[in-house]
Amino acid sequence: MFTAKMMDSVKKVEATRKERMETEPRRMTAEEKEKLLKAYHPDYKEEEFVILKAGPNKGEKVPRELGVLLQARSRIKDTDVDLSSPDYDTDVLIIGGGGAGCAAAIEASRAGAEVLIVTKLRLGDANTMMAEGGIQAADKENDSPQIHYLDALGGGHFANRPQLLKKLVMEAPGALKWLNELGVMFDKDKDGNMITTHGGGTSRKRMHAAADYTGAEIMRVLRDEVLNLPISLADYTSAIELILDEEGRAAGAVLMNMETGELLTARAKTVILATGGAGRLHYQGFPTSNHYGATADGLVLAYRAGAKLLYQDTLQYHPTGVAFPEQIYGALVTEKVRSLGAMLVNAGGEAFMHPLETRDVSAASIIRECANGKGVVTPLGKGIWLDTPMIDLIHGKGTLEKRLPGMLRMYLKYEIDMRKTPILIYPTLHYQNGGIEIGADCQSTIENLFVAGEAVGGIHGRNRLMGNSLLDIIVFGRNAGTCAARRVKDIHTGKLTLAHIREMEEECQRAGIVTDKISPLLLPKYARTAGQL
Ligand code: FUM
Repeated sequence: MFTAKMMDSVKKVEATRKERMETEPRRMTAEEKEKLLKAYHPDYKEEEFVILKAGPNKGEKVPRELGVLLQARSRIKDTDVDLSSPDYDTDVLIIGGGGAGCAAAIEASRAGAEVLIVTKLRLGDANTMMAEGGIQAADKENDSPQIHYLDALGGGHFANRPQLLKKLVMEAPGALKWLNELGVMFDKDKDGNMITTHGGGTSRKRMHAAADYTGAEIMRVLRDEVLNLPISLADYTSAIELILDEEGRAAGAVLMNMETGELLTARAKTVILATGGAGRLHYQGFPTSNHYGATADGLVLAYRAGAKLLYQDTLQYHPTGVAFPEQIYGALVTEKVRSLGAMLVNAGGEAFMHPLETRDVSAASIIRECANGKGVVTPLGKGIWLDTPMIDLIHGKGTLEKRLPGMLRMYLKYEIDMRKTPILIYPTLHYQNGGIEIGADCQSTIENLFVAGEAVGGIHGRNRLMGNSLLDIIVFGRNAGTCAARRVKDIHTGKLTLAHIREMEEECQRAGIVTDKISPLLLPKYARTAGQL
């Protein structure tokens, strides 16, 4: 429970609540936002980035931790593996068993392709599972894909790749229908209409949810569908290098059994990378809301094989990670809490910003308050109040319990009843806005290498809006599956090669890079088995 000092501050939050509820905080101007971001957002801390010296994005900026992995040594030499008789032979190889990988597998299988999913943990161990607040789609009368486009474009600082964003918003209503028909239990009113709310930066209520476990509910249904289809699965099996053919096209992967370390090979006509994010690299020492396997493996595999990355220097720090208690430090407190009206309040009881600014702006505001001595001291740092009792006051008793049951339960375990007291939050590393560059058919700059989900860069520009990630895994996952399966029909794979491993190593040597690091990382640094694998 809270310390006495924290309780003193809670009293200040309670004292200003009535007045705060009567006056909505104003929105920041574009100039104010820009100034704030430059001063406080972690993406602007130049000393936390390095310039790549080798590879397709040579000369560009990346977070320090990612730079090390992109220019590290491979786990194998190109001569270590016999490519003449692969252990697996398939049409479409999908690397990653989260939402994007499963959506891709379903469509590729339905299109008649033979599909193999390899996943380093279990099917569904992915950021999709951890997503809480909702999925966007403009399917209400007062909304349109065009308005959705403008919201996401503004939120993304106008850097979104137009053709990718267009696809995202135009196919969103169809994606929702697809999920609904597969059996996802979205929140509906008594007449069966979808209940929708706002998210940060949305001008219409278009967030569809399954309480506060939307991602888990979507993953439940996708996983069932994968298991019902004739799709092969190799779990606890990581991909440690891509295999190319002699013409430089993707043609499979070298795999590693995560329990025994045994190396295996998979030949495929097309490959889909759906490896997710990078939160477990803990950029700049931040905690993370990401699942255990989020270690940027896909970026490493693709980069070493010669694929270009895009916006790899921009990360998303979710404004509301748990700051207290320390047992759940960094866990996600869904943005839906603010969608339902809870305000961000500093130690003195002041609402210092509108609760639904975009995530980069909200995170920077919270960091500023704490840096300027207006945060609450916690055992692991500082935090800001999220005034959760406001929810039942605004919408009626029982709302928080009904709409945020997972959050309520998580805090009750630590004897914090968020219906009665505010909770302490601080930004947590949540999402990589950038990733591997793709075209509208999900193909990377390497032929026959498709990408979907968080490993993609460009859909969301330099800052993603809430609910557009669960959407992109479905839209681009399905698209990758369809396009990869279609391509299979006219492919004749040439001789397999791993020469790119040696070539990248030689380029790094020429650039003067001396390293004893190996990549992909596969598991976080603090994993008990990480040293052995
Ligand atoms: O706050 C959230 O529920 C997170 C959603 C998202 O990242 O899209």
